[in-house]
Amino acid sequence: MKPINVGLLGIGTVGGGTWTVLTRNQQEITRRAGRAINIVKVADKNLALAKQVTGGAVEITNDAFAVVNDPNVDIVVELIGGTTLAKDLVLKAIENGKHVVTANKALLALHGNEIFAAAQKQGVIVAFEAAVAGGIPIIKAVREGLAANRIEWIAGIINGTTNFILSEMRDKGLAFADVLKQAQNLGYAEADPTFDVEGVDAAHKLMILAAIGFGIPMQFDKAYIEGISKLSSTDIKYAEELGYRVKLLGITKRTDAGVELRVHPTLIPEKRLIANVNGAMNAVLVKGDAVGPTLYYGAGAGAEPTGSSVVADLVDVTRMATADPHQRVPHLAFQPDQLSDLPILPMSEVRSAYYLRLRAMDKPGVLAGVTRILGDLQISIDAMMQKEPADNETEADIVILSHITLEKNINQAIAQIEALSAISGKVTRIRMEELGK
Ligand code: HSE
Repeated sequence: MKPINVGLLGIGTVGGGTWTVLTRNQQEITRRAGRAINIVKVADKNLALAKQVTGGAVEITNDAFAVVNDPNVDIVVELIGGTTLAKDLVLKAIENGKHVVTANKALLALHGNEIFAAAQKQGVIVAFEAAVAGGIPIIKAVREGLAANRIEWIAGIINGTTNFILSEMRDKGLAFADVLKQAQNLGYAEADPTFDVEGVDAAHKLMILAAIGFGIPMQFDKAYIEGISKLSSTDIKYAEELGYRVKLLGITKRTDAGVELRVHPTLIPEKRLIANVNGAMNAVLVKGDAVGPTLYYGAGAGAEPTGSSVVADLVDVTRMATADPHQRVPHLAFQPDQLSDLPILPMSEVRSAYYLRLRAMDKPGVLAGVTRILGDLQISIDAMMQKEPADNETEADIVILSHITLEKNINQAIAQIEALSAISGKVTRIRMEELGK
């Protein structure tokens, strides 16, 4: 059968990994796909790099539209990132009747509705396994493997950079900035590392998971996003003393009132497998009503792991390229006219347990004042720990773990606690998830 011709946009970290995997495993990939998959044209701003990676074996250009408009190209692989040029290129490729494979989570979270509608109209595929959790085939697992289930919740460590930073800070006591530099050197971090550190990258991926899990359109602006830049090592240490690990989790849950969609540092019981996912590794827990909790673990970033997902999509698209459009797996798992209008809940309506740390004067009645506030708001205390004040200090750290309550109740409690004269500074709040059932 005639080979399928691929045009590659961007041959940086992931593009290079894609090239390597496709070249090294060409034979087996052809046996799986049923026909050869050849990269025939590469676009990159850095022509010297493109030449170095490809060994000059294919046509190279710095004009990405020359690839998208090339009639000889069957599938466009978009690995340049960003949401401006990448959007124009992807829409142009679709308009030209080409299938698209992309690792661009930001593009899909922000403009997925428009892109998938255009693809649907043109009868082409937009495949995006590499956009979420790097090398873990989580899109396929949720969209196809768990298709029998009503998905109840998804919780994941879906940003390798922040997990790497949290792990290194905890294990080696390294400073935040040094670890971030390491993550950048290893090729994990986004071009703009604030996307990693502030939770935006994880939220892009979470939006995609929520869409395919619950059959809802993309609505990224409704996600609650809190990163790790304000997390202190004191809280990581106290959490450990109480039997918890702190992870940056993306959590999406279906509730009677709507969908929770949130990224924030989270205390997880240390006995959970996901609490022990370290370094740049990713893990996603998916709870289906029939299957129960399932866990997917693997490299969430890096050249070849992400290239592995890009190539898997190329194989999928190659196998499906000649199939009837109606036989294809729908982009967002559910048929496009069957998407649900379930509301995304505002953060105030989300239910969670909480870790609270306060600095309090070490004198009678302070704790009673704090617990009265919690009690009046129907917030039940699960555990409490008071640390001895350090020498020459009159204030002590108090850590409180609450049972599950509404976020708006805890907001009210925090405001009232911070107003007590015996409390100094802000209350530190980290959400907690049991992730057991
Ligand atoms: N910056 C991302 C991460 C790369 O650290 O996980 C993979 O999407």
